[in-house]
Amino acid sequence: MVAPLRVGIAGLGTVGAEVIRLIEQQGRALSARSGRGVRVVAVTARSKAKKRGVDLRGIAWAKNALALAGDPGIDCFVELIGGSGEPALSAIEAALKSGKSVVTANKALIAKHGLRLARSAEKYGGALNFEAAVGAAIPVVKTLREGLAGTGVNRVYGILNGTCNYILTRMEQEGLSFAECLKDAQRLGYAEANPSFDVDGHDTAQKLAILASLAFGTKVAQSAVYVEGISSIAPEDLRAAEELGYRVKLLGVAVRTAKGIEQRVHPTMVPKSSSIAQVMGVTNGIPPITLVGPGAGGAATASAVVADIADVARGIRAKPFGRPVARLRATTKAPMERHEGGYYIRLMARDLAGTAATIATRLAEQKISIESIVQRHPDGVDANGAAKKPSPVPVILITYATHEDAVYRALEAVQRDKVISGRPQVIRIEKN
Ligand code: HSE
Repeated sequence: MVAPLRVGIAGLGTVGAEVIRLIEQQGRALSARSGRGVRVVAVTARSKAKKRGVDLRGIAWAKNALALAGDPGIDCFVELIGGSGEPALSAIEAALKSGKSVVTANKALIAKHGLRLARSAEKYGGALNFEAAVGAAIPVVKTLREGLAGTGVNRVYGILNGTCNYILTRMEQEGLSFAECLKDAQRLGYAEANPSFDVDGHDTAQKLAILASLAFGTKVAQSAVYVEGISSIAPEDLRAAEELGYRVKLLGVAVRTAKGIEQRVHPTMVPKSSSIAQVMGVTNGIPPITLVGPGAGGAATASAVVADIADVARGIRAKPFGRPVARLRATTKAPMERHEGGYYIRLMARDLAGTAATIATRLAEQKISIESIVQRHPDGVDANGAAKKPSPVPVILITYATHEDAVYRALEAVQRDKVISGRPQVIRIEKN
């Protein structure tokens, strides 16, 4: 009879408490599947007194994360503290150095220090599992690391932030404001402690950097990711997208190009008929081997943490990034200026004869071909039939594939021509 795996958990927030509950509820199934019992024997968190709705009787309370990591009475250290630095970093290092396996949901830490930690895991023989760091309940790390080990991957992309997808979905479907939707995402436990990590795209960038490393065998490099968030997306963009047959999603895209690996996070127009456009609410999705599932929240994240613990119990010791750290290649960053694709452009244009011609000319000078153009109130007369004073009107353009620097050169020229007011809104289009 193999002794049960002794688990120590640092961090008892939404996810930590859910992991304890799940191990308790699923105990039998877990030991049947892993051939070994799994028991939480010690925990630590900032406050011992806080009510968590889980029974901690019979579980030791460690002084702090570092003490728990070094405790010889545990085999597997589960880090659910969060944050890209201390105390999580030293605690994980200490656990790995003492030969323990580590399970973490900490994408910020893996994106920043993943290589260093993977080296320690290799050197001391423990596992370093971080399935919960990307896509919560969706087993995307395992899929890329193990399931697709024999396949050359050219592009990995997806909706990787539940909070942003939840906000965009509710803004689109219910016409709610950005602020209202964000408040609900926070209340439901989807958002990060600092929600600007979600809405400014950094959470997606960290997850994308991890996926790109697994997909392309490169060193995880968050600094190589171009990032734009969703806070500039206005209800009129969502309405225009709908009318033109698109939806707006915050995508993380990593793609091999002749110039290196393009890694980018930005709001993206996707055709309504595409599978990624059907992914709504807090759900995340990673096509074309389509993985769709709950992408944030305590229970979803806890299920991935428990799956990682089960792998440790089974004795699986996969290389954290799918191959030895020494065999991961440096990331060559492809310049965003050379990104090629279609664009949605919304301009506030002067409602005067010749404006559309000026815009079309500037685009043509950059060899940009227009797929469609829509002007919102073209009649130029008021309710009494009298000519209206010229005022800015929204003009929406969809371009065929072109280069990013050409788009910005054309828009700078249009601004110099003084036929538009304010900053143009530009959203990249991803067709499939
Ligand atoms: N804040 C993250 C999200 C949590 O909304 O996706 C899951 O990583």
